[in-house]
Amino acid sequence: MLSNNKDIEESNFIDSLIGKMTIREKLGQMYQICIEANNENVAFNLEDDRSLVKKGFAGSVINLVDRNLIQEYQKIAVEESRLGIPLIFARDIIHGFNLIFPIPLAQAASWNLELAEKAAAITAKEATICGIRWTFSPMIDVSRNPKWGRVAEGYGEDAFLVSSFAQAVIRGYQGENLSDPSSLAACSKHFVGYSATEDGRDYNVTPIPPRELNDVYLPPFLSSVKAGVATIMAGFNDLDGIPMSGNKELLKKLLRDEWNFDGVVVSDFNSITEMIFQGFCQDGKEAALKSIESEIDIEMVSLNYMNFIEKLIEEGYIDTELVNKCVRRILNLKHKLGLFKNPYSNNNFTEINSDFDNNVALELAEQSLILLKNNASFLPLKDDVQKITVIGPLADSKIDQMGCWSMDGDIDRVVTFYESIKSYCLEQNIELYYDSILPDCRVSFETIDDVTVEHIRRSDVVIVVVGEDSLMNGEKHCRAYLSLPLGQSKMLEKIAEINKNVVTVVYAGRPLIIKDILSNSTSVLYAWHPGSMGGKAVTNILFGKSSPSGRLPISFPRAEGQIPIYYSHKNYGRPPLERPISVNDGDFHNSIGWTSEYLDINHKPLFPFGYGMSYTKFEYSEIKLNKIILDIDDSLEVYINVKNVGSVDSYEVIQVYITDVVGSVTRPQKELKAFEKVFIKQEEIVQLKFSIPVKSFKFTDINGDFVVEPGQFKVWVGSNSEECLNMEFYVK
Ligand code: NOJ
Repeated sequence: MLSNNKDIEESNFIDSLIGKMTIREKLGQMYQICIEANNENVAFNLEDDRSLVKKGFAGSVINLVDRNLIQEYQKIAVEESRLGIPLIFARDIIHGFNLIFPIPLAQAASWNLELAEKAAAITAKEATICGIRWTFSPMIDVSRNPKWGRVAEGYGEDAFLVSSFAQAVIRGYQGENLSDPSSLAACSKHFVGYSATEDGRDYNVTPIPPRELNDVYLPPFLSSVKAGVATIMAGFNDLDGIPMSGNKELLKKLLRDEWNFDGVVVSDFNSITEMIFQGFCQDGKEAALKSIESEIDIEMVSLNYMNFIEKLIEEGYIDTELVNKCVRRILNLKHKLGLFKNPYSNNNFTEINSDFDNNVALELAEQSLILLKNNASFLPLKDDVQKITVIGPLADSKIDQMGCWSMDGDIDRVVTFYESIKSYCLEQNIELYYDSILPDCRVSFETIDDVTVEHIRRSDVVIVVVGEDSLMNGEKHCRAYLSLPLGQSKMLEKIAEINKNVVTVVYAGRPLIIKDILSNSTSVLYAWHPGSMGGKAVTNILFGKSSPSGRLPISFPRAEGQIPIYYSHKNYGRPPLERPISVNDGDFHNSIGWTSEYLDINHKPLFPFGYGMSYTKFEYSEIKLNKIILDIDDSLEVYINVKNVGSVDSYEVIQVYITDVVGSVTRPQKELKAFEKVFIKQEEIVQLKFSIPVKSFKFTDINGDFVVEPGQFKVWVGSNSEECLNMEFYVK
């Protein structure tokens, strides 16, 4: 509905433009070209990309990042094409453009929405200077399978945490108003369920039960629609038999008709064509039909719309009005971005590469690091440390510190861990020795030379930086074995034989199986791929400049065989026995019960969702509720006191979960409903109040309705999903 004169004006402008367009020009708007990628354009008989743009046969461009080329192409579109419609330039800018922030999974580990929003705003500023106005981010697929390489790109296993980050990041990219030249249209992807690949392999089938789809995978998308996301990308995935690029039920009925999403929907790269390979469409014509009927507005790279839609109209399969509808949404996005008035790049060069930006990257990295082991409070390193040895293939690798999807990252802005600790040690007069021993993450271990052995032996601490290189995760980079590659594992074991004071820093894009790392280290800091400023962040944490405050956004399995493992599991008819965690993985239990267990491993995760250590301790007490019996329109108010009982100031992440005890269908054991990250000084007690609408307890009931069912509930407050205080309450 048009609410004011501006809306009416805009709509008239767009309608009159559509009125002037030929069908080819309309299809051009619906085509996203991958310039200079030597793609299928040849099949469409196009001389070259420039002439395509000149004819008005392309509406958006993916993967052009050279500012001059962008300006050149835009000039052709605006000045030489018949109607002068500007292009939109799009790019996968996933966790920073030139300045690289921690990978999204690490950002989620910070539990700091404000910082993630700031990082997205900085990213938008940098990308728009280049002329890019559309990013294919955030990826808000709830991810519970660390074998899947793209787990790095998302915000973890929990729908509420993912939804919260989705909204923050969208706010950051899009700002107050898309027409601001430094704002970037966001794209929530991949609608929907792409992360639930059967075996963790990318592009595999995703057989998600309907209730789980509603309650786990769809909520982040609804949250992003509510946050005003400009665009959504349909996934590659075959969702329970229906590939998402032709899934009318979800794309049209749910997203458009029920959720009223009137932004642009784009296909994934070639995904419309892939419906033929998936056995869902006979040919490109059928693929085009299924996609346009699902109201996918833009086809990324492949040419089914270009080749077949005209024919589909002529043969009466679809009405021109359907094409107009898609084109209207695309032109609307261009209008909102202000491209008709100002099609060229943002010129605000003065604002990039500032101390402010670097500090956001540093702080976000620092807050995303997770301390997983710290024997005898070995960390932070004490003032009496006089000699340090740094080892490992990742200690001084700029590319790998940035992580996956950082192809536009400015390598010169990366400060590696080794560079950072080197300057710190110089300042502090600490003797430092460095040897990567392994040139990269994947090679096998041979030996440590005598000089290095001697340094290791004489050091007060040996810091070993191991894990995954940037290309061991991300799209198509899936793994069946999640342990540290053997070479690194053997190297670590050898180092620990020489000196027990090993601090291991893990760079990785996913939870790894870290049994061997734990047993060979005194302390373990999980650093993910922490981005440009990550090296400095690690140094700051190791030397106690700040206390670790990252908390796991995803459960850590003990072995691949436990995957998928996630905290919000349903209850069991035969719950596993509470075995001591010390049962050795791989040993056989003698006395297995008739319960839901493994013979050879503890059923619990190695580290639960929400977990992370600190240099201090927090005590939770006096959980109180505003009411014990609530109405559907009420909010549950939860009060808790948290005291920092240690001797270090630190952030703590206070987490609030609920349990719906009995339902018309079985319910998760716990569900995260609120959290807050607060800085608490030593000895300080903070009183926190969380206000949680009862309506947020809705789920898909036995009839498929989304409701809150009356009855008994529990609320849990604590520092992770396992260690919580709880109280009961009821909903009428
Ligand atoms: C395929 C990926 O699935 C998607 O996330 C990405 O945005 C597109 N390629 C474009 O590069």
